[in-house]
Amino acid sequence: MCGIVGFIGAEEAAPILLDGLSRLEYRGYDSAGVAVYGEGCGLQVVKAKGRLKVLEELTQNGRALHGAAGVGHTRWATHGEPSDVNSHPQVSADGRFAVVHNGIIENYVEIKEFLQSKGVEFVSQTDTEVVAQLLEYYYKGGLLEAVGKTLERLRGAYALGILCADHPDMLIAVRQDSPLIVGRGEGFQMLASDVTAVIKYTREVSYLDDGEIAILTRDGVEVMDRYHQRVDKPVSHVDWEISAAEKGGYEHFMAKEIMEQPQAVRKTISTRIREGRVVMEGMEFSPAYLRDMDKLYIIACGSSYHVGMVAKYVLEKLLRKPVEVTLASEFRYCDPIVTKNTLALVISQSGETIDTLAAMREAKRLGARVLAIVNVVGSTIAREADGVLYTWAGPEIAVATTKAYSTQLAVVYLLGLSFAQTMGTVSEEEGAALAEALLALPGKLEEVLERRQDVQYFASLCFNHPSIFFIGRNLDYAVGLEGSLKLKEISYIHSEAYAAGELKHGTISLIEPGTLVVALASYSPLFEKLMSNVVEVKSRGARVLGLTTADLAEEMGKTADYVIAVPRTHPLLQPSLDVVPLQLFAYYVALQRGCDIDKPRNLAKSVTVE
Ligand code: G6P
Repeated sequence: MCGIVGFIGAEEAAPILLDGLSRLEYRGYDSAGVAVYGEGCGLQVVKAKGRLKVLEELTQNGRALHGAAGVGHTRWATHGEPSDVNSHPQVSADGRFAVVHNGIIENYVEIKEFLQSKGVEFVSQTDTEVVAQLLEYYYKGGLLEAVGKTLERLRGAYALGILCADHPDMLIAVRQDSPLIVGRGEGFQMLASDVTAVIKYTREVSYLDDGEIAILTRDGVEVMDRYHQRVDKPVSHVDWEISAAEKGGYEHFMAKEIMEQPQAVRKTISTRIREGRVVMEGMEFSPAYLRDMDKLYIIACGSSYHVGMVAKYVLEKLLRKPVEVTLASEFRYCDPIVTKNTLALVISQSGETIDTLAAMREAKRLGARVLAIVNVVGSTIAREADGVLYTWAGPEIAVATTKAYSTQLAVVYLLGLSFAQTMGTVSEEEGAALAEALLALPGKLEEVLERRQDVQYFASLCFNHPSIFFIGRNLDYAVGLEGSLKLKEISYIHSEAYAAGELKHGTISLIEPGTLVVALASYSPLFEKLMSNVVEVKSRGARVLGLTTADLAEEMGKTADYVIAVPRTHPLLQPSLDVVPLQLFAYYVALQRGCDIDKPRNLAKSVTVE
């Protein structure tokens, strides 16, 4: 939520800030702004409601602002509607401080009332303005003193970038529970919510930890902890190419990322299987630990949670241990039953989702061991978990996740197989067959993608439906949850995913002549049961789009109106193939409807507020 960027060096800052913001727009995009300090020009602030392109036009792509130090922001509104005045940077009444913020200042009302009682007048509805005004209130000439006193009063989550007109030779970066990195260059330094904003300029980055304050000058960075003690921050090298975060000829990032799935899944799987056995880096789970494990608790949000839903079926089947899947936002406040023998499996593409991070910390506090499946190297969840399994999906930019989902699923399979082989809950042959099927998955994903025109055709028939149902049983139900979410996220069509057997306990009342039902029937043991549910909705006039494996397509076609077929794989792996036509379906429906596919309304990719 919200992206922040800062630059201090010898060049004009504004074009660099705008370029950085263009790479952070996935974090929020209802308004944007920059503040730049230049000799003779003072502090220049331009901010505007709307997409970044509005700001680019207002500033002539940054050329209208002069100065070599500045901060920028792209917003996902929490406090105060999207508007020019609520956009960041927020500026103190005396015009001395410009502040960009990601997170929420939870005690902002109390601070605002305190400052108002001292005569300070506020202009915005944001929580962030209290930071700028507090800085002014405490400022007596010493910037660090004012920052220190201000931070003492703040409660909540924040990543801050601060520029002071009296000290234009420095930028201040502060991190508390919201991600922030520092990019280190020769003769310039940057701050940003994530590495995508700085990678064009430098690959050397430091990840700030909670409570840390970084002072950036043109020539270097000094980091202090909350007690103002100097901290030696390690510098990490980011080794992926900038092209990985660009569209590469596709109309949308989502299309590019859908098409990248075979390659991403291959990268995630291939190095981790040797001679039929799974070898996972940095993961040591002894047979005794796994034998004594009382429960596997899966904690995640959004699509990562949907991966968890598939994982429950897969892991319970492979391990015969209870698996509980819970939404991170619920886990935190449900007094969860966790023991030292509980393994918490945390799934997060970004590694920064605040609810998932907080739930992970709670699980740790309660004594669980925490294993995280994460895509972003160096993210907070990756750094704080006891063990990390990376999904090698590369940067994912589209708000609607596709390749991250697929690679998370691949890691779940690897994990399940690895545990099952260690525990002896699968035979040698069963294990080898699953390993072989896993290695064959990327090739089968390519086959699914080759037939994307079929899905495009169905999308052209269905894009005007006001409401679409997804039904399935077992693994098909879990995949349906993701298919339904993808559709509503980007096409704004109302959609529900239902366990097919549950439909008649209420929701079938919504099926009327012409209602579109997407019936998932790839889980062969329950094919006939699912087909009974298809007949039930057909009897009430539903139009049915079936999704099944090639060998069952003809049978399904006898009842369904249309059928999309995917290749058959090991039954537990089938979700990996089934999800792809559903992603494509959502994509093509949204395309037909003229939606802003990569930046759907009201959403953000990285949700760093509760
Ligand atoms: C947001 C994104 C979703 C994502 C969810 C969890 O809502 O739009 O695509 O699944 O956050 O994110 P995470 O980074 O923790 O997987």
